Amino acid sequence: MQAHQVKVWDPFVRAFHWSLVVAFALAYVTEDNFLTIHVYSGYFIAGLIILRLLWGCFGGRYARFSSFVRPPSEVINYTRDILRFRARRYLGHNPAGGAMIIALLVSISLTLLFGLLTYGAGESSGPLAGMTAGLGKDTAHMFKEVHEFFANFTLALVVLHVFGVLLASFQHRENLVRSMITGTKPADENDPH
Ligand code: HEM
Repeated sequence: MQAHQVKVWDPFVRAFHWSLVVAFALAYVTEDNFLTIHVYSGYFIAGLIILRLLWGCFGGRYARFSSFVRPPSEVINYTRDILRFRARRYLGHNPAGGAMIIALLVSISLTLLFGLLTYGAGESSGPLAGMTAGLGKDTAHMFKEVHEFFANFTLALVVLHVFGVLLASFQHRENLVRSMITGTKPADENDPH
């Protein structure tokens, strides 16, 4: 019998997610050779992050930070359970997924901040140019190193994020990637909505 489907991810969360995937990939591959595309992808990502932060405060039930940011003890217990194949199913983000979202948002924001500092100090361009122009080549180089560190750290988090999504999908015999496209998930008798 087909389980009843529940609307979980609203259109904004889905559009945010897949736009972020495309823009992050574009920014990553254009890094050195296509500066204009790289910078505009970065601005686009900054806009997405600001909107997601607002949506996390004022959006619907499953989009709100208060629904998926859990205390560290719960994140650790959930991670232990999923690695032992006995985690309970969540209709919204599970505690480890919630922690990963926060880690991704912080790491992306730091990547953006140091990208803007690099652009200001190295090229005298962008919104922080007034503050960073004249800091010198060495400082610009240091900003660039930190920018690259956080870009690669974000990529490592993404690998872990996709691994977590696949593990949870396998464990609960559901397709979480499809849910992030359609917005729906099979209903849960413990959380009837
Ligand atoms: C093709 C690779 C990717 C796949 C298949 C994927 C899949 C997913 C899925 C299924 C969810 C929902 C998880 C759940 O059910 O709890 C999710 C959430 C999320 N993913 Fe990904 N993801 C991918 C790449 C990325 C990338 C590259 C980023 C960031 C650079 C990212 C950031 C996020 C964020 C921030 C959320 C939370 C969405 C929200 O609540 O607004 N993902 N992802």
